[in-house]
Amino acid sequence: AGSSSHARNLGAGDGRRSSDDGACVGFAAASADANIALVKYWGKADERLILPRSSSLSLTLDGLSTRTEVRFLETPGNDAQVKDDDLVMRDTLTIDGKPQSGRALERVSGFLDIVRSMAGLEGTVANVASWNTVPYGAGLASSASAFAALAAAASRAAGLWLSPRELSRLARRGSGSACRSVFGGLVRWNAGVSDETSYAEPIDGSKLNLAIVVVSVSEGVKPLSSREAMERTVATSPLYDAWIRSCAKDMEEAMKAVEYGDLELLGRVTEANSMGMHSTMMTARPPILYWLPQSVAILRAVQGIRADGVGAWSTMDAGPNVKVLVDAGDALSVADELKERVPGCKVSVHMSGHAVRFEECD
Ligand code: DP6
Repeated sequence: AGSSSHARNLGAGDGRRSSDDGACVGFAAASADANIALVKYWGKADERLILPRSSSLSLTLDGLSTRTEVRFLETPGNDAQVKDDDLVMRDTLTIDGKPQSGRALERVSGFLDIVRSMAGLEGTVANVASWNTVPYGAGLASSASAFAALAAAASRAAGLWLSPRELSRLARRGSGSACRSVFGGLVRWNAGVSDETSYAEPIDGSKLNLAIVVVSVSEGVKPLSSREAMERTVATSPLYDAWIRSCAKDMEEAMKAVEYGDLELLGRVTEANSMGMHSTMMTARPPILYWLPQSVAILRAVQGIRADGVGAWSTMDAGPNVKVLVDAGDALSVADELKERVPGCKVSVHMSGHAVRFEECD
């Protein structure tokens, strides 16, 4: 990768030395789609490497994606014992045009340090700019698409040409669920026991034609990040060990359902697994409850639609929105039905999404 006409001026904008003072040593852009877990990842065995306690299964979703540009710059000034902090060049990050600082920037910088050390680019800083394509609000912006796109763009900008498996392992270091967004369609994340053995891979979903109806009830900021909630659950929920045992069984059944094209079985496992995960949260101390009254109304509406003979199964993550697993052919009618049964909810339909996309930069 080299400097390119796509590169934009992403100046630091905080009064420090402009990042444009440094020579560009690499630029790349990439996009990734979000994913929704059918069998969830909830709890880490290793916090630093982000190794999960159990394997998980997800569907990558069309129409919920992140596009990210990364530019690495040389920092001659940083090498020469600069005493004045204001003169030190730092990484910069903008999300949807807004400059970021604090935790968001620290998390991205920490991730870029991994890429820099892999590529021997320790003496560089990066300008990162990211855009999310979400149909409405911020409630669905996901760390999965964000870190998959960042891993792809940053590794390529740093001159690393990683295999999809290596890219999945790298994305995992940013956010666990991001390792699954490297691939399209149905994806399995093998928990593994080490950095080398914990990666995602696509699985053959050709006997199914899945879609997800996202039912959004709130676009507000989460009361507690999934990272913190997960940590508290592992540390304090008396149900946690049972949850891990049930995940192994759910993975087995879900894989069988995919192999035989049994949507009914996959749906049952999906809904039960999500309820199990939320049970561990509710029994954490202090308890964690992401559900809002409208979430419960939607869960019940999904049961009602099913009772009326249409295949639809719910799943929820670390927030109040409900995602509904359906056959792609039923997606629009289920979406209409949900709008009717739960007035005021916002609904969007997502088909199976795609693997990470790199942009040609030169
Ligand atoms: C509920 O991947 O966001 O969505 O690894 O700490 O970044 P970190 O967590 P994250 O957790 C996702 C949890 C989940 C379930 C899932 O996607 O499997």
